[in-house]
Amino acid sequence: MFYLKKANTFQGVSFQELAQQFGTPLYLYDEQMIRAQCQTFLSNFVHPFVRSEVIYASKAFLTKAMATLIHQEGLSLDVVSGGELFTAVQGKFPVNRLYFHGNNKSRKELLEAIEAHVGTIIIDSEAEFLLLQSILPNNTNQRVMLRINPGIEAHTHEYIQTTKNDSKFGESIFADSTMSLISRISKDSRFDFVGLHSHIGSQIFEESSFYEHSRAVLRYVKAITVQTKVVVKEINLGGGFGVEYTSADQGIDLIEVLPKMLDTIYQAAMDLEIAIPKVLIEPGRAIVAQAGSTLYEVGSTKQTVEGKNYLMVDGSMADHIRTALYQAIYDAVLISDREISSSSVYTVAGKACESGDVLIRSIQLPQAQAGDYLLVKTTGAYHYSMASNYNRLTKPAVVFVNNGVCRVVVKKETYADLIRLDVDMEE
Ligand code: LLP
Repeated sequence: MFYLKKANTFQGVSFQELAQQFGTPLYLYDEQMIRAQCQTFLSNFVHPFVRSEVIYASKAFLTKAMATLIHQEGLSLDVVSGGELFTAVQGKFPVNRLYFHGNNKSRKELLEAIEAHVGTIIIDSEAEFLLLQSILPNNTNQRVMLRINPGIEAHTHEYIQTTKNDSKFGESIFADSTMSLISRISKDSRFDFVGLHSHIGSQIFEESSFYEHSRAVLRYVKAITVQTKVVVKEINLGGGFGVEYTSADQGIDLIEVLPKMLDTIYQAAMDLEIAIPKVLIEPGRAIVAQAGSTLYEVGSTKQTVEGKNYLMVDGSMADHIRTALYQAIYDAVLISDREISSSSVYTVAGKACESGDVLIRSIQLPQAQAGDYLLVKTTGAYHYSMASNYNRLTKPAVVFVNNGVCRVVVKKETYADLIRLDVDMEE
């Protein structure tokens, strides 16, 4: 049932060939699928009376090639650190379409953003406004938004919720000081205050959360209009669109939900009798998660005295942290050129020196042996971008595959890379 023949391929390239050419573990992306997801967002986040823009949240997965791809597909780009900003610029991403986020941007990062002429800075707090005031040159007119916290609790893992009232992100809509901060930003001629940003969390399956969020932000726009006369031209509703990791999940139906979000905004603007703002969204995971898989080689299997079957692969929590961190659940297929008639329930473990180093807690697979390969699916988001060098394990290569053609977008790390920044102890 699970048996995959040697002939099976990833977008036309055999797994054996991929493993031999690029080594394992290996992050694989179906390039056409990333591009198709970009177009799904662009073509469905539309409404006859509401202007819109789609921004890719690069924290999900960013390399220079990815920045170029996102530009080619016509999306804007969200960066959240000096490092992401640098990568985007090196990937020749147009700076005017960059959105710079972060709850604690340093003075250095803000100076880098100003120098690079980043299109929009999302101010996270009053402190950041004051910092920007102290460093923005006099003759600038920096486009900015303010991140607000509308206090909505989206139904997702606690670690990736972002707008509970005690979240570290943004300024609360329930604090009077937020309204006066908006007035102050809009009155300073060096700031071009265009509107509000709000993001309610990640991997959200409940579509009503998106509509509830849209209405809550618009009610606040109305309050701003009434109390301050400041014009809110744009609202950025963040990302969070849930994707299917296994058949047990039901991902967000983008074709249905995206236009409905815009219609919710339209209806709310009509009801509240305010001008319709332009609406921006920032998907990360939903663009790349399902386009990515990780290929491992099976090193060994082991049965414990209590009967637990381990399948050990040559990767670890260093390249796959989401199971250990969020109890995430993954699907995988075994790739072997043997005829296999029986199966076992396995715990897929890595090679890191830690008991929690588990990639899949329980999965039924054909009986595996050393030399088989395991393809863990839906690893395109928050895998490479969250990878570490724990145990001095080298990070895998990242390869885009497009109709049988492989493009290395990140080379496999070497041992030399691991010590590149190490400084010798003087004798
Ligand atoms: N915009 C902002 C301001 C965000 O903070 C995020 C994600 C996004 C957009 C994109 O959200 P997405 O569409 O990818 O759900 N490491 C966690 C996810 C953290 C998400 C943080 N912010 C994970 O692996 O599940």
